[in-house]
Amino acid sequence: MSSERSEPYPIVVSNQKGGVGKTTVAINVAGALSDAGARVLVVDLDPQGYLTTGVGLDEEYMRDPPSLYDALTDPQAHSVADLVCEHQEFDVLPANIDMFNLEQELVSAMRGRERLSMLLESVDAYDFVVVDCPPSLGILTDNALLACRNLLIPAEAEDTSIRALDLLFKQIDTLEDNYGASITERALVVSNVDYPLDGEQKGMLEWFDDTFADRIPVFELRSRAAIKRAFNDGVSVFAHDEECDQREELERVAAHFVDLAGTQEVAQR
Ligand SMILES: Nc1ncnc2c1ncn2[C@@H]1O[C@H](COP(=O)(O)OP(=O)(O)O)[C@@H](O)[C@H]1O
Ligand SMILES: [Mg+2]
Repeated sequence: MSSERSEPYPIVVSNQKGGVGKTTVAINVAGALSDAGARVLVVDLDPQGYLTTGVGLDEEYMRDPPSLYDALTDPQAHSVADLVCEHQEFDVLPANIDMFNLEQELVSAMRGRERLSMLLESVDAYDFVVVDCPPSLGILTDNALLACRNLLIPAEAEDTSIRALDLLFKQIDTLEDNYGASITERALVVSNVDYPLDGEQKGMLEWFDDTFADRIPVFELRSRAAIKRAFNDGVSVFAHDEECDQREELERVAAHFVDLAGTQEVAQR
């Protein structure tokens, strides 16, 4: 059925290793999509709330109920529209400090891994939903993978990434088996690449290409102080009053997802 309002294209930004650029990639890809004219909702699923506080929503992170915690505890009783906050580039569904208790509660709950799917079911005011994951392969990450199914993998050019991605793909296989779901890698962003390359980075960039490039695009986001400064000012590099030569690569990531979303829309008709 075709309608005026089409479903958003959901993207899960996941890699359970900490500090690999998930939040940086989520904000800047969302910024690039928004800059390209898309309506974007960013969801912060990390109980630590780095994205939420990063975009200046410290009060939301500390706020009294209801928050994303309550919405994931009882998705039927809450609506995303009531919880979103406006940001100059995109809307944000902020994390809340109460979410530290969520994993423990959802582990024994009915459909505990499908709460985000339920919550996002009726969301239609956006072209893209970008979900930033916590640094763990727990139930919250499972929720994000099952709700979005289009995986954007940020990874560092370090040897440890091989094992991290192996564990991530094992988790995805398990979820696919248990839920009959198809979770698909859509892009890899090698994050925080620091030139001149040392041997480890060089080797890993080759490994990413050999392992992924025949299936999905491998993008490279270089290490830039401007990216950090934009984050510290609560925005992506697209809304920052400073030149950043990494915009082009981010625009390519966004264009790739705009293409994929267009294909999805056609396939649905
Ligand atoms: N391309 C980049 N340029 C500069 N700093 C970066 C870049 N990517 C990530 N960082 C920095 O690396 C650290 C970890 O990144 P972050 O996005 O918070 O990772 P994660 O969300 O996976 O824990 C942060 O301090 C962030 O500012
Ligand atoms: Mg993060």
